[in-house]
Amino acid sequence: MSEPLLDIDDLTIVFGGGRGALPWQRLPDVRAVQHVSLKIDAGDTLGLVGESGSGKTTLGRAVLRFLRPQSGSIRLGDFDVTGFGRRVPTEYRKTVQVVFQDPVGSLNPSMLVGAIIAEPLRIHFDMDSRAARERAGELLEQVGLQRHHLDRYPHEFSGGQRQRIAVARALATEPDLLVLDEPVSALDVSTQSQVINLLERLQRETGAAYLFIAHDLAVVRHTCHRIAVMYHSRIVELGDSDDICERPAHPYTELLLASIPDPDPAVQHLKSQRRRELAQGVAGASGRAPTNSCPFAERCPHAMEVCWESFPEPVPTATGGTVWCHLHTTGPRLGGRPVSELATDAQLAEAPAAAADG
Ligand SMILES: Nc1ncnc2c1ncn2[C@@H]1O[C@H](COP(=O)(O)OP(=O)(O)OP(=O)(O)O)[C@@H](O)[C@H]1O
Ligand SMILES: [Mg+2]
Repeated sequence: MSEPLLDIDDLTIVFGGGRGALPWQRLPDVRAVQHVSLKIDAGDTLGLVGESGSGKTTLGRAVLRFLRPQSGSIRLGDFDVTGFGRRVPTEYRKTVQVVFQDPVGSLNPSMLVGAIIAEPLRIHFDMDSRAARERAGELLEQVGLQRHHLDRYPHEFSGGQRQRIAVARALATEPDLLVLDEPVSALDVSTQSQVINLLERLQRETGAAYLFIAHDLAVVRHTCHRIAVMYHSRIVELGDSDDICERPAHPYTELLLASIPDPDPAVQHLKSQRRRELAQGVAGASGRAPTNSCPFAERCPHAMEVCWESFPEPVPTATGGTVWCHLHTTGPRLGGRPVSELATDAQLAEAPAAAADG
């Protein structure tokens, strides 16, 4: 089997707490990413989903080498990313590119679009201005804009068009990996699907792999080959997109799925019911990821004593994915059974006793 393009192994990123409001106060450290391992094959898309503050952007920034992790390793192709010193090789900057959520903030407002796209071409391919302009025009056409747009400023475009410009600039270096950090979250729904379709087409044309970061599963479900679900600094479930969405194994993945609105009122009713069940007795997360327990324990309707005591070991799911959840190590879902295989919640409630008896 060939090696994955991106190989993240046991990555932990902690931000120093810094000073509080009073001179003697020191805020606690923020454990933004804990023991995360992920792989992406060349040309594949991995969706990274989870709610705000779960550590998705931090993970993406570590891959882009905008920050250095405390421990663990990142390898991209032949690059030992965590082994880089202060200076990141220019060649690495060419290999991995990023598209941010906010196309207004990420495009220099005082530069013409032509200059914005030509910049990486001149840096990485040493093109003269005529060749760079020619190639920038091609890239604009590739993302569905026109050559004459080279002579306009970013503010003269709509949000969706600006995101197309950001994609054109990112693709200019012919990267092997594109980190897409919520690339459509700021766009309205119809523009979202246009940009997603564009990203899918460009992947077929360029063969670039994507790390696609998003808040909700609805956005990544059809775009991504595989999905990693992140909760409070930890990956809690990982698997093929369809398996994750049709047969989720982790209670948090269930909650994310139940949050996607459904056009069928009957299905929507069931989903709302499920969401209420899952949210029962939930006070909301405290905002600090604990180091040793399952971070979802405080919101999980099925939490057991053990969930407060240790973070679970990975368990292979019945669908070929991986889940990090005690329900699968000692609880009723033993052996990675997806929720859909459990007949009722009543059985789920009785099962721990049955498992203990057996
Ligand atoms: N530079 C920083 N210094 C201190 N803490 C930080 C820093 N960057 C992020 N954090 C903290 O790390 C945690 C993860 O943040 P991150 O931005 O990675 O989350 P996210 O999943 O991308 O959230 P969102 O969906 O809102 O973009 C948060 O608790 C955040 O406050
Ligand atoms: Mg983010």
